[in-house]
Amino acid sequence: MTSERHPRTIEWLGDRVRLIDQTRLPHELVLKEIADYREIAESIRRLEVRGAPAIGVAAALGIALAALASGGSIDALRGDVRRAADELASTRPTAVNLRWAVDRMLGVLDDPSLGAPDAVRDGLVQESLAILEEDRELSRRIGANGAALIDDGDGVLTHCNAGGLATAEYGTALAVIYAAVEQGKNVRVFVDETRPLLQGARLTTWELMQRGIDVTLLVDSAAASAMARGWVDKVLVGADRIARNGDVANKIGTYPVALAAREHGIPFYVAAPYSTLDPSLPGGGEIPIEERAAEEVTAVQGVRTAPAGVRAWNPAFDVTPARLVEAIVTDVGVFRAPYENSLFARPRASKA
Ligand code: MRU
Repeated sequence: MTSERHPRTIEWLGDRVRLIDQTRLPHELVLKEIADYREIAESIRRLEVRGAPAIGVAAALGIALAALASGGSIDALRGDVRRAADELASTRPTAVNLRWAVDRMLGVLDDPSLGAPDAVRDGLVQESLAILEEDRELSRRIGANGAALIDDGDGVLTHCNAGGLATAEYGTALAVIYAAVEQGKNVRVFVDETRPLLQGARLTTWELMQRGIDVTLLVDSAAASAMARGWVDKVLVGADRIARNGDVANKIGTYPVALAAREHGIPFYVAAPYSTLDPSLPGGGEIPIEERAAEEVTAVQGVRTAPAGVRAWNPAFDVTPARLVEAIVTDVGVFRAPYENSLFARPRASKA
């Protein structure tokens, strides 16, 4: 059973956006309807919608909302949309998909062939829907391209959530697993809990169980032990930004998983659409790493677990060096180092 069981992660309803509030999962499936771009920005900040491709889609739809809400002259519309774009782009710094989607929307805003306000508004709505639809398609292609890496009977370890909830639909790392399962392969998935916000425990297990896939949850610090026991044949994770040399930013805790995988001779694969590539950065050292509130570390789901007043460091992402990455699965194929001459030598836009 591999069909999607939950409503779509994010959807356009003509004059508003509907999204799954992921902070409420797995306890409640809450669908939020949002008509104001500022609320979309807040949803991204709060991780109600999260995952690199999904926040790009959300930002694009947010800009479409801002355009619909703006009346008056073309100059007023351009000003309003630019303000919305700036606010949405500043919500989270690490996933480059967000900036990529905003820039694509600004390309329509600046299109000289769209002179009248109505034409610009319509162009922005159409572009946001194209980004949404394309993300669905990219995920399917990532799954199809990566499925051959998975063998029947494999144990696959994943970190955070790179599934349908992190994209418009289907996922990146989980898309590879879904496609392998759809081909009839048996796959056992080991899911890191993913402290501090528990995307693995709350979201990845939920998605996998909905599809009837064999899943085992473990605390992040048990990943190396699962490898030592011989349970893990492959590691498969998503990405928030990939630099030109193949260094990969992903959820905090990914780098130690890659180190442990190398020690145990287990291939470490990354899956991502082209919108996650950042050709402007030569290496991972330049990727901006989001730091979030200390309270996410000093408390678990709102219950304090550390002494009041203790200092905490809460980086939301880390960078896995390219030398630990066996291959990168994308919508246009599977690439190996040196990435500058393989993955980044291709035209950036995905072609059907
Ligand atoms: O902070 P989050 O939940 O947005 O972090 C998400 C991740 O790190 C995912 O692994 C990444 O965005 C890839 S999602 C297809």
